Amino acid sequence: MTLDVPAIRAAYPALADGYAYLDGAAGTQVPGSVIDAISDAYRSGLGNAGGVFPASIRSATVTEQCRQAVADLVGGVADGVILGPNMTTLTYRLAGTLARTWGPGDEVVVSRLDHDANVRPWMQAAARAGATVRWAEVELPAGELPAGQYDSLLSERTVLVAVTAASNVLGTRPDVAEITAKARAVGALSYVDGVHATPHGPTDVAALGADFYATSAYKWSGPHVGAVIADPGLLESLHPDKLEPAPGTVPERFEQGTPPFADLAGVTAAVEHLAALAGPAAGTRRQRVLASMAAAQDHEQALFQVLLDGLGALGQVTLYGKAPRRTATAYFTVAGRTPAEVAAHLAERKVNVWNGHNYAWELTAVLGIRDAGSAVRAGLIHYNDRSDVDRLVAAVAELAG
Ligand SMILES: Cc1ncc(COP(=O)(O)O)c(C=O)c1O
Repeated sequence: MTLDVPAIRAAYPALADGYAYLDGAAGTQVPGSVIDAISDAYRSGLGNAGGVFPASIRSATVTEQCRQAVADLVGGVADGVILGPNMTTLTYRLAGTLARTWGPGDEVVVSRLDHDANVRPWMQAAARAGATVRWAEVELPAGELPAGQYDSLLSERTVLVAVTAASNVLGTRPDVAEITAKARAVGALSYVDGVHATPHGPTDVAALGADFYATSAYKWSGPHVGAVIADPGLLESLHPDKLEPAPGTVPERFEQGTPPFADLAGVTAAVEHLAALAGPAAGTRRQRVLASMAAAQDHEQALFQVLLDGLGALGQVTLYGKAPRRTATAYFTVAGRTPAEVAAHLAERKVNVWNGHNYAWELTAVLGIRDAGSAVRAGLIHYNDRSDVDRLVAAVAELAG
C-alpha cells in the first residue's frame, strides 16, 4: 500500500499557505474532515452529558465514539481509554494516583531519553512518597536506550517504569516490549509515552506490553485532546481524587470536569482520517488503521532518507542520533549559527521547524547542547512530500554549504 500524498495534502486546508510544515512533532495540522466534525458537533447541538434530552445524549455518544476510536488506533478497549486535556495533565494525574501506595524503599525508573512529561511527574510523585528514582541512560552517539540496562535497574523494589516509545527529538524507538517485560517480571507497572510514536506507525499496546500508554491527538491530525489507555481491570484497582458527585466508574473517574465534547468528535474524525490514509480498504477500522499507518511509516522513512542524505552532505551540519529504529525526526545544528538563527532563516524560506530542547530536558543535557540553545528539529509526517524536504535542505545549505 502506498500513500496518495497529493490527495492527502489537499485534505489539509492549512497546507495551502505554501509553508513546508516540518513541525509536526510539536503538533500536526488537521484535515478538513476533523474541522467539519468539530463544527458539525456544535451545529447539531451539544448538551452536558448525563441528561435525558437529545443534545445531552449526543454528547454521551460522541464521548463513547471517541473512546472507541482511540482504542482502535492503539489497540486497546474503549472502557480503558481515559480522555483529558493533554498527556502532561493525564500523566500528573496518574502519577499522583499511583504514588498513593508508594513509600520509602520503593523505586521508580525513568529514562534520560524521555520528554520531561514522562519524567518530572514521576520524580515529583516519588519525592512526595519518599520513593527512590533510578535512571536509564542513553548511549551516545547513537542515542539509543539499551534495554539490557534495565536488568540492573529493576528489582522487587521497583513499582513503576516510565519509558518513551519514541524520543521526540532523536526519534529513537527503544525496545519497549523488552523493557515492559522486564518490568512485569519484577511486578512493576509500566507507563509508556506514546505521544511521539503514535503518529509514525502502527501501534499495538498489547504487543508493547504497556500497562499505561499515553498519546495526544494533536500529534496525529486531531484536536488538543490527550488519552491514556490501560486495561479497565487495572483502572478498577486505582482511585484518583475526584469530586464526590462525579462518576465513580471506570474510566470516567479518572477524568476531571466537563470534557470538550466537540473536540472529542474531532478525535474520532482524526482516527477515521488515519484509517483512510492509504485509500479505501476493506476490514475493521482497527485493521485499516494498522495498514494505513504502516504505509505512512514507509512513506516517512523513504523521505527521511532523502532528508538525512541531504543534510548529511552539508559540511557544517551535525545530525544527532542514529538509532536503527527511529521515527522520521531529524535533530541537527549548523556550525557557527544558533538553532534559533537557523530556525529563523528557515522561516524566511517558508519552512516551519522547531529550535530548542523541545522539553527533551535530560536528553539535551546528555547531548551537551541544552545550554547552547539545543538544536533544530525537522520532523516528517504523512502529509510531507519531497518538495518540503528539498526546500529544507536547500535553505540549510545556504547557511552551511
Ligand atoms: C514525546 C512527548 N511526550 C509528551 C509530550 C507532552 O504532550 P502534551 O502536550 O499532550 O502534554 C510531548 C509533546 O510534545 C511529546 O512530544
